[in-house]
Amino acid sequence: MAIKRTIETGSTLNAAQIPEDHKIENSLRPKRLKDYIGQKKIKESLDIYIEAAKGRGEPLDHLLFYGPPGLGKTTLAGIIAAEMGVGIRITSGPAIEKPGEMAAILNNLKENDVLFIDEIHRLNRQVEEVLYPAMEDYCIDIMIGKGPTARSIRLDLPKFTLIGATTRAGMLSAPLRDRFGMLHRMEFYDVDELEKIILQSAGVLGVKVDSEGAREMARRSRGTPRIANRILKRVRDYAEVRHDGSINREIAVTALDLMDVDRLGLDHTDRNLLVTMIEKFSGGPVGLDTIAAAIGEDAGTIEDVYEPYLIKNGLINRTPRGRVVTDEAYRHLGIALNLADKV
Ligand SMILES: Nc1ncnc2c1ncn2[C@@H]1O[C@H](COP(=O)(O)OP(=O)(O)O)[C@@H](O)[C@H]1O
Ligand SMILES: [Mg+2]
Repeated sequence: MAIKRTIETGSTLNAAQIPEDHKIENSLRPKRLKDYIGQKKIKESLDIYIEAAKGRGEPLDHLLFYGPPGLGKTTLAGIIAAEMGVGIRITSGPAIEKPGEMAAILNNLKENDVLFIDEIHRLNRQVEEVLYPAMEDYCIDIMIGKGPTARSIRLDLPKFTLIGATTRAGMLSAPLRDRFGMLHRMEFYDVDELEKIILQSAGVLGVKVDSEGAREMARRSRGTPRIANRILKRVRDYAEVRHDGSINREIAVTALDLMDVDRLGLDHTDRNLLVTMIEKFSGGPVGLDTIAAAIGEDAGTIEDVYEPYLIKNGLINRTPRGRVVTDEAYRHLGIALNLADKV
């Protein structure tokens, strides 16, 4: 059974959160900054700002984290609250529909609390406007009454830190973006870092993994901790059913091949995207929407979830005329470069 499950869900190895992750992600989330692996630049500056803010007894400046899903934005928000020794309220852009709801959330915060808004680029305009004075002056303006007698009163809020997370910094309005004191771009993780994350998670889950096994899984995790953890769980299933449950390189390779995750960590959808660009559009340039229609994926998902890793690994280039498959992608897929097509 375990193997069947592994195969069936193998194609969902994209970094967006799926319900399966909810159960276990919290237990795997590091709680303190020192256990948060990688993202060195962000950690170093946070370390300084947290200490300074704590020393002054003030909340931390508002922070924005942006980058592809699964790189540790939510985790970091929790860590910041823990390091500051304050509470955290977690919500998301699409969950807040009315300005009044935003006002209520803000008003219920305690002094110096963290408010984490995931997918903050999806806040609607009126809700977003409540945030402007709240972020700037820790207050909100509330309208009382209707018609000609309506007036607005100012309500003071507790001081707080807003942490926003988004996969699309470009979709944030300028007034909102400008009100963040710090903007941090999350980077993909290297193989060493992912190996550490896998070993750390294996410890929490009680899975035996040798370093070669961990390394193989790390290599195929698309630079993404969420995927690393998911791969670890799937490979563990395989190891339990087919072996004694412990994971070495050979078992990792076999299980990952079975999951259709290749040596660069590309899954079926990534390869389908590249092959389609090559076969239907001679390798590009081709527009995002056209690619999306051709492979039956949502354009936004391609842009947020698939493309960043393909670009990072030099398999796709973005040009003003559209996306282009690189020679490296041809090599990776083992498709002969047809130079006649490319000129
Ligand atoms: N730097 C890290 N060190 C260890 N584990 C991490 C790190 N970043 C993310 N993770 C793990 O990856 C999973 C996804 O992280 P999350 O914070 O939910 O990503 P995001 O919010 O960016 O989509 C979590 O289960 C977390 O345990
Ligand atoms: Mg998140």
